[in-house]
Amino acid sequence: MKSDYHFTVMKKEAVENLNLKSNGTYLDATLGMGGHTIEITNTRNDINKIICIDADYNSLEIAKLRLAKSKNKIEFICGNFSDIDKLINEKVDGVILDLGISTYQLLNIKRGFSFKKGNKLDMRINQNQELTAHKIINTYSVKELSELLMNYGEEKNHFQIASEIARQRSKKEITTSDELTEIVGKINKGSSNIEPSTRTFQALRIAVNNELEAIVKFLEKSEKILNKGGRLVIITFHSLEDRIVKKFFKLSESKCTCPPTKMSCDCNKKQTFKIITKRPLKPTKNEVLLNPSSRSAKMRIGEAL
Ligand SMILES: C[S@@+](CC[C@H](N)C(=O)[O-])C[C@H]1O[C@@H](n2cnc3c(N)ncnc32)[C@H](O)[C@@H]1O
Repeated sequence: MKSDYHFTVMKKEAVENLNLKSNGTYLDATLGMGGHTIEITNTRNDINKIICIDADYNSLEIAKLRLAKSKNKIEFICGNFSDIDKLINEKVDGVILDLGISTYQLLNIKRGFSFKKGNKLDMRINQNQELTAHKIINTYSVKELSELLMNYGEEKNHFQIASEIARQRSKKEITTSDELTEIVGKINKGSSNIEPSTRTFQALRIAVNNELEAIVKFLEKSEKILNKGGRLVIITFHSLEDRIVKKFFKLSESKCTCPPTKMSCDCNKKQTFKIITKRPLKPTKNEVLLNPSSRSAKMRIGEAL
């Protein structure tokens, strides 16, 4: 379903691969505007419950309204999926994780996620947390900024950009996306067709929300919250996210982590997941045509053993 708020990515593929069953309990850990949960409820109305989580209170409230007429029981929880062990106290039969932010968040000027003119540097998914993009840009040392741009943005010119940010903020506090894009634009002089500050904005968003660590924490806990045969369906949007998911599934599928030089296995490693997607699924050409921002999506699926 096309939404005014968000165009749900790979929704048919995601829900088909959850293998929904009668009386099952499912977890949508990135509720957003509710797109995947709406697809679940449109597919079956005989499931036990859908638990829906989002760290963004406003998104949760909008999704609640959109799901008000659902025939299935839905439980809404405002929280970070990295705390999943504290947020729920039951096992589920399938999980959907659709990472990143929604179009609603991206286009909301007050949230400061995009480099469009007039955005205040903010980028918090959870608006109650203290750390903002503004704080990072105006207080982190050149070394910290440079590492952040390198590690979370894979930005080639990380040191030059960090140094220029420090030079400019010593004259005047940097408060808007336009000021930041102008600074980055001086270093990344338009050779590519993407906006020169794309990598800087990605790095900042990841750092503000501790996004990569949240994914790792959730994955580490996922085995404990999934019933046997339960599917973990994950949609990523950039290589840093996808690498984490790929590595996690590979390790979970392995039966031994002993070095190859060992004659006999003594690591006691157990296989916890079976990989369903040897190669990630991608959106169809038609979906990309309708929603160009789905082009970088990759879906990986594992089944709990
Ligand atoms: C891409 S959107 C999901 C869109 C949704 N599947 C839909 O179709 O409407 C990702 C959502 O996950 C939320 N989110 C991101 N990181 C989170 C985290 N660590 N814990 C909980 N929610 C998170 C964001 O606030 C955002 O609403």
